[in-house]
Amino acid sequence: MSNLHELLTLESGPINETYVEKLKALLQSGIPATYTLEQAAAHEAGKDDVEDVASNTTPLHILVRSLPNSLNAEEGQIVLKMVDILFEYGAGWNFLDYENKSPGDLLCERGFSNGNVLYERVVEAGVSAELLLRKLNDDIEFIEDEELESEVVEGESTDPVEVPQTNQQEEVVGDTAETQDVYLKADLEYTSNALVTKENKDGVMMDWETDIMRLACSTMFKNAGIDAVVLNIGFGMGIIDTFIQERKPTKHYICEAHPDVLKHMREEGWYEKPNVVVLEGRWQDTLSAILDEGNVFFDAIYYDTFSEHYSDMLDLYDTVVGLIKPDGVFSFFNGLGADRQVCYDVYKRVVEVDVQNYGMNCEYTTINLPENPNWEEVRRSYFSCDRYYHPEIRFM
Ligand SMILES: C[S@@+](CC[C@H](N)C(=O)[O-])C[C@H]1O[C@@H](n2cnc3c(N)ncnc32)[C@H](O)[C@@H]1O
Repeated sequence: MSNLHELLTLESGPINETYVEKLKALLQSGIPATYTLEQAAAHEAGKDDVEDVASNTTPLHILVRSLPNSLNAEEGQIVLKMVDILFEYGAGWNFLDYENKSPGDLLCERGFSNGNVLYERVVEAGVSAELLLRKLNDDIEFIEDEELESEVVEGESTDPVEVPQTNQQEEVVGDTAETQDVYLKADLEYTSNALVTKENKDGVMMDWETDIMRLACSTMFKNAGIDAVVLNIGFGMGIIDTFIQERKPTKHYICEAHPDVLKHMREEGWYEKPNVVVLEGRWQDTLSAILDEGNVFFDAIYYDTFSEHYSDMLDLYDTVVGLIKPDGVFSFFNGLGADRQVCYDVYKRVVEVDVQNYGMNCEYTTINLPENPNWEEVRRSYFSCDRYYHPEIRFM
């Protein structure tokens, strides 16, 4: 174990300023703040570097793991200074250690979660890293740590790396939950409580989200008058659209891209409903046509698609601000980073920052998700947090 790692075990005495000074000195001497236990072990074994980079147990992990349960406020401030210094010297917020945990995961697990200064500091570091990364990369690659997988807007896929668009002549290969082209060509199947991809059982939509859809619908009609014109992007199981119909809006636009879902909508009579307008195709195509025409504006827009990424949402913001009425509301199914609480908290803030750039404000309602969804029917779970942040986005 290196001196740095040893210091961060907090075993050399009471937690006071001495630790802060010693930590600064070690980092100033050139030990990287990202120096992992795995690297230290490799060096001790006389190797140049670690052979297996499956885990990165960083100094920050060691510090968090070493926090005493009885940490008092004064000690907390000392540790916060140490965390600040580690970040200042380049520590990463999202490395995964030998137990596949990030420092934020460990803080949550140890009870230092929401509202705790250390946890909030890690979240802040995550937000800064994401925003900086986006500035550095022309291409948006959200939270680009290769092992921290969280960026999909809905559904069970978790790989944050953007997959290049395929040429139409080429065979379309890839993951249904990752790549739209692949998803839109896959066969879907409606089961009693879910919409899944037939072959690999990706959960496109599941009925455990019903309460979330009910809440989202009530947001859509919060300020809308009797002549409400609303838009839902992504029909799925039609849960939110059924709630919307109960409100009898003047016009209810539904944008849907998948042929199997459109077929289902036809069979279920959605095309015959007098106030429903079905926009067939991807929102990227159908909404820009409405935007160009310039004669339809919405009281509310709800977005819940599948196999899209946060970069798609960033594009959508451009469209939303052009289509929404000045007092309209935009909301979406918030599964951003929801396979880890810390990522979910990072994305929560990133959305706030991003919509502020459009003069919009995002307010969240937090609801507890009492029951664990039954994931047996699908390939992988796409929501692992026990609370849900419901976003309401309006012009300030
Ligand atoms: C999660 S489901 C929506 C569930 C819906 N909120 C409900 O209450 O049942 C996602 C839907 O979005 C559709 N979709 C995916 N990408 C799309 C896109 N780019 N444009 C329009 N629809 C899309 C999918 O085919 C799928 O029907």
